[in-house]
Amino acid sequence: MKYKLAVIPGDGIGNEVIPASLEVLNSLSAKCGFELEYQHFDYSCEYYRKTGKMMPEDGIDRLGQSDAIFLGAVGYPGVPDHISLWGLLIPIRRAFHQYVNIRPVRLLKGIESPLRSPGEIDFIIVRENNEGEYSNVGGRIHEGTPFETVVQESIFTRMGVDRVMNYAFTLAEKRRKKIASATKSNGIIHTMTYWDERFEALSMNFPEIEKSKFHIDILCAQFVQHPDWFDVVVASNLFGDILSDLGPAVVGGLGIAPGANINPEKEFPSMFEPVHGSAPDIAGKNTANPIAAFWTAQMMLEHLGEKEAADMLMGTIESLTAEGKVLTRDLGGTASTSDVTKEILRLISKQ
Ligand code: NAD
Ligand code: IPM
Ligand code: MN
Repeated sequence: MKYKLAVIPGDGIGNEVIPASLEVLNSLSAKCGFELEYQHFDYSCEYYRKTGKMMPEDGIDRLGQSDAIFLGAVGYPGVPDHISLWGLLIPIRRAFHQYVNIRPVRLLKGIESPLRSPGEIDFIIVRENNEGEYSNVGGRIHEGTPFETVVQESIFTRMGVDRVMNYAFTLAEKRRKKIASATKSNGIIHTMTYWDERFEALSMNFPEIEKSKFHIDILCAQFVQHPDWFDVVVASNLFGDILSDLGPAVVGGLGIAPGANINPEKEFPSMFEPVHGSAPDIAGKNTANPIAAFWTAQMMLEHLGEKEAADMLMGTIESLTAEGKVLTRDLGGTASTSDVTKEILRLISKQ
């Protein structure tokens, strides 16, 4: 098989971890007998500085020609985040109806959790990715006056809530058959009361799934105190965003956290991007951990149907962490981005 990949390294460490991942993907494609054709896109804050836009008018059309999009990170000091994110990341997620954001949280062999007795940690955050708190309805009025007011509406549609919840229930069916819903419905937030109603209603179609719901505040605490309780966690856009930095924090941090923005119907390309951002504090130093991007590439291979390569890559990542010799600083090691990449390539070549 041959796949067309749209590659957008984006900003900061995206320019380090994405090229490293392409080397890994190349070695896997040679080994497992499939072809990858890359189309490189320089859409980024740098592109904005040159052109006044994060991507050209036909950017979405061009990306739409691909089988999958592989993205590093968007956002960098010097360009306000509302420009870079509304100009590139959010339009891609929405134009291609990538309404499910899957963010696995798993304690890999050899990785030290900051928790004293972490137990087995293996769950998946299913984040609503197209609506909710991330709406563009609202704005500022009376700017610069004592009446200055800022409003942002949260928008939850029945279609939007149901489709992500159905995805999460179906995923739970294939796993340990447990689902937890992140909510805040104690009478305060109307949208969350609705979220709960839909969760209840849809759960009737999945009687064999053990369901629970947690208010977001206590859920944050349970992610730290009992991360072993969770299997699938379904959350709104903002709650899912927060949980998907917290979850990884108990299993080694953002340096290893993978993510996928999925259009389940495969009507449009899905986009694969690690959870982390452009990490301006370490960008350009060859110290970023590329594992988050490698694991993200692994999810992309799985999505494309290249199971052998996906399994080989996951196994290789786990051998590397289990061995614990070639790790970047965020994991307590001294290795560089290139050292980790070379080690992964070496381990792949031995198989
Ligand atoms: P960040 O994820 O870039 O960095 C947070 C911290 O984690 C930093 O200390 C960083 O050094 C560390 N870190 C992140 N990835 C790492 C890796 N692979 N290896 C080692 N350490 C790593 O978050 P931030 O600082 O809040 O955001 C920086 C910029 O990135 C902002 O413009 C933000 O909007 C953007 N951002 C983009 C995305 C995305 O494109 N998906 C995600 C998050 C943040
Ligand atoms: C993420 C990021 C983005 C989000 C930002 C950069 C808009 O934090 O992918 O988790 O909140 O979706
Ligand atoms: Mn985030």
